[in-house]
Amino acid sequence: MTIDEKKIELEKIAREIRDFKGLEIAKNCINAVPGEGDPDAKIMFIGEAPGADEDAQGRPFVGRSGQLLRQTISESNIKIDKVFITNIVKYRPPENRDPEPLEIEICRDWLDRQIQIIEPATIVTLGHFSMAKFLPDVKISQVHGHGQEIIFQEKKYFLVTMYHPAFAIRGTSNMTEFKKDFSQLRQMAINALKLRRC
Ligand code: URA
Repeated sequence: MTIDEKKIELEKIAREIRDFKGLEIAKNCINAVPGEGDPDAKIMFIGEAPGADEDAQGRPFVGRSGQLLRQTISESNIKIDKVFITNIVKYRPPENRDPEPLEIEICRDWLDRQIQIIEPATIVTLGHFSMAKFLPDVKISQVHGHGQEIIFQEKKYFLVTMYHPAFAIRGTSNMTEFKKDFSQLRQMAINALKLRRC
């Protein structure tokens, strides 16, 4: 797929997400948050669900956690305009509660299609909910910062499981761990690209 074709397909998905009214959170949100970034990104970040700031702007990771995420990506020498950032759930759950299984299930096909179109060499999960999409039976405290090859939708990806930036905000030692994990990301992503090309 060319970049222009990818862009068109991603816009089609974003329109479907914005038009959908089959969930209470979709009916009640200010803005749906489909995700944004380079249609040809080599790295894709997947968070949990939009918060109040994301709901207000219709963009992922623009609040306090988002600022930390974007700053940490840049500090890792990864260009923020060369990545794609999205979420497991595309609408804000009220009071920032955890996403419910039905909400994750309804939003699953959109995320699967985003992955299929962009085909990033590296997928970075942020927190438990996005990690559980690929690795349902592991604890984030045991695998944070780790990378591994996975097969998803019959294609190979390099999966990196990171803590959610909201976890990092909760304390100095959390922040240190979060930043330390990210310091390895650029090299892992370069290796993943080389593997993809073999
Ligand atoms: N937290 C998330 O998981 N996603 C966002 O877009 C914002 C905060």
